[in-house]
Amino acid sequence: MLALPLFLLALAGCGERAAPDVSGVTQPPAVDAATDTAPDAAVAAFLERHWARPLAPQGQPPEKFSPLEASLAPADCGSCHAEQYRDWHSALHARAMGPGLMGQLVNMAPHARDEHQDCIRCHAPLAEQADGLVEALGALGQASSVSPAPVASPPLHTQGVVCAACHVRAHEHLGPPRPDGSVPDAASNVSLPHGGFTADKAFEDARFCSACHQFQPDQYALNGKLLENTYEEWKDSRHAREGRTCQSCHMPGRRHMWRGIHDPEMVRGGVDFVAEGARLSGGIVDAALTVRNSATGHYFPTYVTPRVTAEIEQVGGNGQALPQTRETRVIARQVPLDLGHEIADTRLPPDSEVRLIYARPRHPGAVALVYRLRVEPDEFYARFYRSLLTDGGAGQGATLIQEALAQAESSAFVAFEERHPLPEE
Ligand code: HEC
Ligand code: HEC
Ligand code: HEC
Ligand code: HEC
Ligand code: HEC
Repeated sequence: MLALPLFLLALAGCGERAAPDVSGVTQPPAVDAATDTAPDAAVAAFLERHWARPLAPQGQPPEKFSPLEASLAPADCGSCHAEQYRDWHSALHARAMGPGLMGQLVNMAPHARDEHQDCIRCHAPLAEQADGLVEALGALGQASSVSPAPVASPPLHTQGVVCAACHVRAHEHLGPPRPDGSVPDAASNVSLPHGGFTADKAFEDARFCSACHQFQPDQYALNGKLLENTYEEWKDSRHAREGRTCQSCHMPGRRHMWRGIHDPEMVRGGVDFVAEGARLSGGIVDAALTVRNSATGHYFPTYVTPRVTAEIEQVGGNGQALPQTRETRVIARQVPLDLGHEIADTRLPPDSEVRLIYARPRHPGAVALVYRLRVEPDEFYARFYRSLLTDGGAGQGATLIQEALAQAESSAFVAFEERHPLPEE
C-alpha cells in the first residue's frame, strides 16, 4: 500500500504545471544569436499554447468536414497517412495506456478528473480521451470484470498518445513544414483534406518532446536531480551543440517509431561495447569490458526505470554458466520503490564510459569467458507491480497489474554478448 500513493505523489507534481520547459531556453553558443532569438521565442510561445493541459476539447468540426476528416481516431488518420499509422501502431506511444496504467487508474474515483490528469496528461492527453476514461471507469462500477472484452474499434482513451494529441487542436491540423521546407498557403489549404494544415517549426524542435519527457524545475527531484530530465541532459550534450534533435535520432526520416531502450537494435546503435582479454597468468583470468555512451543523446539510460548490467563470467565446456565467477557492474539510476532517496547513480552521461576489470582465479571447469550487456527496460516497474500484488495495493486492478508484470518481465534482453576462449597457460 505504501508504494502506490508515493509513486502517484511523485508524478502528481506535473498536474500543477501546464507548459513545457520554455523558460530560459537558449540555443547552443555556435548559433548566431541575433537571427535565432525570434524563432526561438516563437517556438516557445507555440509550445506553451499547444501543450496547455488539460487540453481543451476540440469542439464542433467545421461544417464542410466529412466524418472522416473530423475523426480523432488514429485508424482514420491512417486511411490517408498509411506510413505514419503503421509506424505509430508499432510504437510505445500507441501502448501508453497499457495494463500498468489502467491497473492503477481503475483504483481512482470515476469522476476524479484532476487525479486522472496527473497521469493521462502524458499518457492520453486529449480532452476526448479524458471523457472516455471517466465513462469507462463509471461503467466498471457496474460491470463484474475489470478487463473489458476487446471491441472492433478500441475507445480513444485506450489508444494512448494518439496522432491528434500531437497534431490536432480545435480541429486545426498542425505539423512541420513539408520536407522541402514549403508550407501550404490559404488558397491551397482550401482544396486539401481537413482544411489543409498549419506548419510550425516547433515540430522539428527538441522542446516539442519536453512536454512529456522533462519535469519542470520545481517538480520531483532526488539528490538534486529531477526524476525526468531527458531534455536537460540532451541540452548539455554534444548532440544539442551539433544540432542532433530528439527527432533526428527517434524519428529519422520523420518515421513515427520512437524506438528507445525497449529496442535491442536502438540500444546497440547508442553504445560501444569493447571486450578485451582473456589472458591467463598464474591461474588468474584477466579481462576488461568497456561500455561507452557514444551515440545516445542523453544519459544511458535516461530514466530511473531501466536497469543495465555489464557482466563478465567464465563458462564451462558445454556453455554452462559458472555464476560464482561472475563480475557485474550496474548502469542505472537506482531508486527504492517509494522513490524516497537515490541509492546510486551509475548511468553514463553522453560520451562517458565505464570499464569493468576482471581478475579472478580460473574455475577448473572453465573453457571461455563471456562478456555481456544485459538490459531490463522495465526493472523498476516489475519490482513495483510485484509489490502491489503482494501487499494488496493493486486493489481492483489486480488482473491488469498481473498482465503488466508479465510484460515488464518479458522485455529484458541481452544487447551484446561475446565469447573469448581461455588460453592455455
Ligand atoms: C482524407 C485523407 C486524410 C485524412 C483522413 C487525414 N489527413 Fe492529414 N493530410 C492529408 C493530406 C492530403 C495532407 C496534405 C499534405 C501536403 O499537402 O503536404 C495532410 C496533411 C497533414 C499534416 C501535415 C503534414 C506536414 O507536412 O506537416 C498532418 C500533421 C496531418 N495531415 C495529420 C493528420 C491527422 C493527425 C489525421 C487524423 C486526425 C489526418 N491527418 C487525417 C490527408 C488526410
Ligand atoms: C503527450 C506526451 C508525449 C509526447 C509529446 C512525447 N512522448 Fe514519448 N512517450 C510518452 C509516454 C507516455 C511514453 C511511454 C509509453 C509506454 O511505454 O507506455 C513515451 C515513450 C517514448 C519512447 C520509448 C521509450 C522506451 O522506453 O523505449 C521514446 C523513444 C519517446 N517516447 C520519444 C519521444 C520523442 C522523441 C518525442 C518528441 C517528438 C516524444 N516522445 C513526445 C509521452 C509522450
Ligand atoms: C510528465 C509526463 C508523465 C506523467 C505525468 C506520467 N507519466 Fe507515466 N510515463 C511517462 C513516460 C515518458 C514513460 C516512459 C518512460 C519510462 O518507462 O519510464 C512512462 C511510463 C509509465 C509506465 C510504464 C509503461 C507502461 O505503459 O506500462 C507506467 C505504468 C506509468 N508511466 C504510470 C504512470 C502513472 C500511474 C501516472 C500518474 C500517477 C503517470 N505515469 C504519469 C510520462 C509520464
Ligand atoms: C508524440 C507526438 C506525435 C504523434 C503521436 C504523432 N506525430 Fe506525426 N509528427 C510528429 C512530429 C514531431 C513530426 C515532425 C518530425 C520531424 O520534423 O522530424 C511529425 C510529422 C508528421 C507528418 C509529416 C510527415 C512528413 O514526412 O513530412 C505527418 C503526415 C504526421 N506526422 C502524421 C501523423 C499521424 C497520422 C499520426 C498517428 C498515426 C501521428 N503523426 C502521430 C509528432 C507526432
Ligand atoms: C544522438 C541520438 C539521440 C538523441 C539526440 C536523443 N536520443 Fe533518446 N535514445 C537514443 C538511444 C540510442 C536510446 C537507447 C539507449 C538508451 O535508453 O539510452 C534512447 C533512449 C531514449 C528513451 C528511452 C528511455 C531510457 O530510459 O533511456 C527515451 C524516453 C528517449 N530516448 C527520449 C529522448 C528525448 C525526449 C530526446 C530529446 C530531448 C532524445 N531522446 C534525444 C538516442 C538519442
